Amino acid sequence: MSGLPEPTVALSEEQIAFYRKNGYLAIDQITTTEEIERTRAACDGLFTRRAGREEGMEFDLAGTDEDDTKPTLPQIMEPRNYSQALKNTQYESNAINISKQLLGNGIEQRGSHAIFKPAGYGAATPWHQDEACWNPKKNYNSISVWMPLQEATLENGCMQFIPGSHRLEVLNHHHIDHNPKVQGLELDEDQVDLSNAVACPLPSGGATIHGGRVLHYTSPNISDTPRRAFILLFHVPQPPPETRRDFYWQNKTKTFSAEKREATKT
Ligand code: NI
Repeated sequence: MSGLPEPTVALSEEQIAFYRKNGYLAIDQITTTEEIERTRAACDGLFTRRAGREEGMEFDLAGTDEDDTKPTLPQIMEPRNYSQALKNTQYESNAINISKQLLGNGIEQRGSHAIFKPAGYGAATPWHQDEACWNPKKNYNSISVWMPLQEATLENGCMQFIPGSHRLEVLNHHHIDHNPKVQGLELDEDQVDLSNAVACPLPSGGATIHGGRVLHYTSPNISDTPRRAFILLFHVPQPPPETRRDFYWQNKTKTFSAEKREATKT
């Protein structure tokens, strides 16, 4: 039996239409202030102790991730495995409800992650499509629900999107800094006009929702507080693509975290 609370948030018809047209959506409230505080404390604790580092689940998304370098964009995959406080939240219940509205019946969870963008020096997450990081042999009908754990502003790195870019194919990407030791990917230049980006500042308790192909970005954190986010992914499994796709940039990946995850499997 699921221990999830009943959902308290549902999208309006207008919000659903906005998502279909633009490939993303911002909502002002997905959970309570009290739950945000609890979630933030739990995530801060995980990042302080670098939960999951040994097994390659904690790593620097924007750097080369040596043990003795200061990470500029630490990320933890599946943080719910490391903290009970992140399980069975009102946020998750509402995110499931929203996913059903946007993706239809048959949704499954695809996982969770948490990102910590440190105050003052937290790095940008460059323009990318999430699907460029995923398996090219699969098709996806998927959404990410991105919930900041404080307000999200232009100064601390709120989400920015290119409206309508969800209709694009997966474009060419490369590793950040063209360095295969860095996990994060960046869109190759000059493929898309990025000048019509829309920034989505959010109050604490709000969230953005985006599909796997919509182009998105967050700026460096130049504020004096960290910018954390806790993200849940959902999908409806799809038949595989009919044509072979070559995400050649993935073949170059050579990160410490990928090596550790591989070693943990055996
Ligand atoms: Ni992304």
